[in-house]
Amino acid sequence: MKFLILHGINLDMFGKRDPAQYGTATLAEIDARAQALARELGVELECFQTNGEGAMCERIHRAHAEAVDGVVINAGAWTHYSYGIRDALAILTVPVVEVHMSNVHAREAFRHHSVIAAVARGQIAGFGADSYLLGLRAAVAAARGSQR
Ligand code: DQA
Repeated sequence: MKFLILHGINLDMFGKRDPAQYGTATLAEIDARAQALARELGVELECFQTNGEGAMCERIHRAHAEAVDGVVINAGAWTHYSYGIRDALAILTVPVVEVHMSNVHAREAFRHHSVIAAVARGQIAGFGADSYLLGLRAAVAAARGSQR
């Protein structure tokens, strides 16, 4: 089975950006932890980051064409306003798990609303880099469950 972790706008700056919210791990370190978990779970994993909304939509379209088994996405600020990303995710028929490093619900009001939550299987927020690992476990479990 193949899974995708998608990182959106500004997330390539993890490690340098607002450590009180996002910690000090770099995106490469987070991806390495996710790859180790994928090996443990016996699945294939690709991690992708872009600051371009169109590039993210195209990667999601390709995920549909490639028939990936599940997607974990931290859309960054796009979470709160991008109907383009939302509509792209809605094309997928496999489990989509929305993740956030920070607890978006305990922050500014504009972060409380997610336009992608309604097309995701669920949301995990507030556990730092562990949010991605919990998200991957959730996506794999949901994909395996839906095969039965
Ligand atoms: C974030 C939360 C978003 O509100 C913010 O715009 C980000 C990161 C998180 O991982 O906590 O860029 O998605």
